[in-house]
Amino acid sequence: MLQCPVMSTILAIETSCDETAAAVVRAGRHMLSNVVASQIDLHAPYGGVFPEVASRAHAEVISAVVAQAMSAAGIDYADLDALAVTQGPGLVGSLLVGVNFAKGLALATGLPLLGINHLEGHIYALWLAPDFDRPAFPLLALIVSGGHSELALMKRHGVYQRLGGTIDDAAGEAFDKVGRLLGLPFPGGPAIEKAARGGDASAYRFPRAKTDSPYDFSFSGLKTAVMRAVTVQPSRGRNQRRRGDERKVALRDDVHIPDVAASFQDALTDALVTTTYRAARDFDAQALLLTGGVSANTPLRQKLEVALDLPVYYPPLPLCTDNAAMIGAAAYFRLRAGLRSPLDFEARANWRLSEDVYA
Ligand code: KG4
Ligand code: ZN
Repeated sequence: MLQCPVMSTILAIETSCDETAAAVVRAGRHMLSNVVASQIDLHAPYGGVFPEVASRAHAEVISAVVAQAMSAAGIDYADLDALAVTQGPGLVGSLLVGVNFAKGLALATGLPLLGINHLEGHIYALWLAPDFDRPAFPLLALIVSGGHSELALMKRHGVYQRLGGTIDDAAGEAFDKVGRLLGLPFPGGPAIEKAARGGDASAYRFPRAKTDSPYDFSFSGLKTAVMRAVTVQPSRGRNQRRRGDERKVALRDDVHIPDVAASFQDALTDALVTTTYRAARDFDAQALLLTGGVSANTPLRQKLEVALDLPVYYPPLPLCTDNAAMIGAAAYFRLRAGLRSPLDFEARANWRLSEDVYA
């Protein structure tokens, strides 16, 4: 097994979706730097992430973002012990930019490189939180973001049992689509949370979907129910299938946006809480790790804290959404376990958390 100093310093790169990010992390929990170049403004006109725009933007800025992470950390490549990069899941064109850049760096520096699962990265964002006191395993992880809604049991470092996930839209995707429908700015999650503060969550009774598996989620019916409730006529036909069409339908005159936002948010968070509660109970979880972009949602945090008889941990706000520090934290535990990726590894658009993450 190769040596891994306890204070290992890792440069990590993340480009799986629409953030170009690089960070330097020491000992799996100290961030020496954490740089995130967001593409939100570029994608806002489309109301969602546009893959070709994303990969091109990554290619344009990655070199500068990595240089900035290194200079902000105040270290040189000679001070690094390893490199890490998000290998998947994600948009393949975006992933390739980070993976190829990291491989180039590994060849140039001779440093070992680790390809990291993005979902595992979201979990390890918790290890960077100052108040995270490393609870005993097994831990339940609820990863809710724009691209994923996953429920997994973390049995120990690198060993996961996937319990379930969304069978259609991801939680953040539902926030984004409903936000677009209501004419709110992109991304929809923060905008809906803000609008909901002035609304009545009992104004509409939106469905809390049941799924065949007790640990799965489904949000597309909820999105459709919101659409039916607030539009003059649910439009049908060819045009409706076009990207971004939710915002083109006419809203009813009597729609009070804060009420819709609050009722939608209440239904979505209820579904997340009910399923998470069931899994925590059934698998005897010692704590809940709530992570991913939607974990920034305050009502979700509060409901989980009330419903679960367990400590609930969530990352500081900047680490809820995509960043490279979480990839560096996950990489530290792999490095410590003696793992390295072969330099010919490939980006993986789909990659579920499983027992074999460390295999
Ligand atoms: O983790 P993330 O940055 O990217 C993915 O891996 O997808 O998550 C972004 C998602 C978006 O869908 C955004 O609307 C959602 O997280 N989000 C929120 C909040 N802040 C971000 N959803 C609900 N409430 C929020 N406060
Ligand atoms: Zn993410």
